[in-house]
Amino acid sequence: MANKLHPHGFDMDVIEMTPTPFYYYDMPLLNRTIDLILEQIAGLNAVVHYAIKANFNPQILKTIAKRGLGADVVSGGEIKAALSHGFKPGDINFSGVAKGDWEIRLGLDCGIGCFNVESTAELQAINDIAAMMDKTAPVALRVNPDIDAHTHRYITTGTAANKFGIGIDELDTVVALARQLEHIHLLGLHFHIGSQITQMQPFAMLCNTAASMIERYGKQGIHFDFINVGGGLGIDYTAPDEHPFAPFRDYFDTFKKRLLPVHDGAIHFELGRSIVAPCGSLMSRVVYIKETKGKKFALIDAGMNDLIRPALYGAQHVIQNLTSDEAAGGWEPYDVAGPVCESSDVFATNCQLPPTRRGDIIAIRSAGAYGESMASCYNMRPLPGSVFSPDEGVS
Ligand code: LLP
Repeated sequence: MANKLHPHGFDMDVIEMTPTPFYYYDMPLLNRTIDLILEQIAGLNAVVHYAIKANFNPQILKTIAKRGLGADVVSGGEIKAALSHGFKPGDINFSGVAKGDWEIRLGLDCGIGCFNVESTAELQAINDIAAMMDKTAPVALRVNPDIDAHTHRYITTGTAANKFGIGIDELDTVVALARQLEHIHLLGLHFHIGSQITQMQPFAMLCNTAASMIERYGKQGIHFDFINVGGGLGIDYTAPDEHPFAPFRDYFDTFKKRLLPVHDGAIHFELGRSIVAPCGSLMSRVVYIKETKGKKFALIDAGMNDLIRPALYGAQHVIQNLTSDEAAGGWEPYDVAGPVCESSDVFATNCQLPPTRRGDIIAIRSAGAYGESMASCYNMRPLPGSVFSPDEGVS
């Protein structure tokens, strides 16, 4: 017999029998998202590296690796996770401002595709470690293009004021050094300007900056095998059912139009959120309804330790009651809060929900990126579980 499907597309048979809180992943949606991405880059000299930090659940990693995407990693732990879930070493890019010696050794040992280098000090350290191991390190230099991505200040990365990348005024010196160091093989330039970027204009500016560098270095006889434009494409958090996919066509068109014509080599992308955010929802149950002076709280069994985005960034996720009748009317505003002992453990204030009772199942939508991967055991709460729907197994 077919499973009971909720109007919002959830497999209720699976959800009702699973102890909350847990992440529910719509694997067919993840696969359709990857289909759209692969369609956009078909025939181009382009690789999409999935930014593992967005979600490193083993099932998610295996699914993405199987579809042929590369991996963007930021730690030794992520290198190991990428390798053990099917990504090929040569398809792994290693980013991060403070790579430790053991992480550099690990990357060199298993033959990763590229180190995205963020400073002269790091370049020197990688060269020294590679020399000791009698290897040559493949490197891209991460440029800080000083572009404001107009996103939350905690997730903007490409302006001169933050710690990421090599400033444009320093770049000539670092390029010269990279070309001169014996154990460094300079392959490309790397950019990443921020995350949850919903306008195409910052990406267009990034293309202009990259194009002018390609031209400038080209004149000096320096040609790059690839330009890595980073990630950052945003999704629509306000309407997950109407817009389950990021605007991939507009995004890739921006690079096809502005970067491809001036660059002979490959283009690398490092998308995280736009690949996995829509397919994940955090499922919880209402523990109590609490009424105070004119306010109703729906206190749920998921907390900021399970999904920190609202507490950390003021992020807003659509919240739905899956067990109340949405069509019956009587919707009311609720503050939806968790059990953690912090006043910021609130998922939404004045959230309109149908009449909500103890035991109801609450879905917090678009939580597949930076949800489970940022979960913690704060308050000694166990990490949330995960469930995959449909037919993709349960962990
Ligand atoms: N490449 C680099 C070098 C990055 O630092 C990041 C994300 C990405 C790629 C992937 O970006 P995406 O396509 O996912 O936007 N925890 C925050 C987001 C932090 C993003 C950090 N870097 C959040 O929950 O909004």
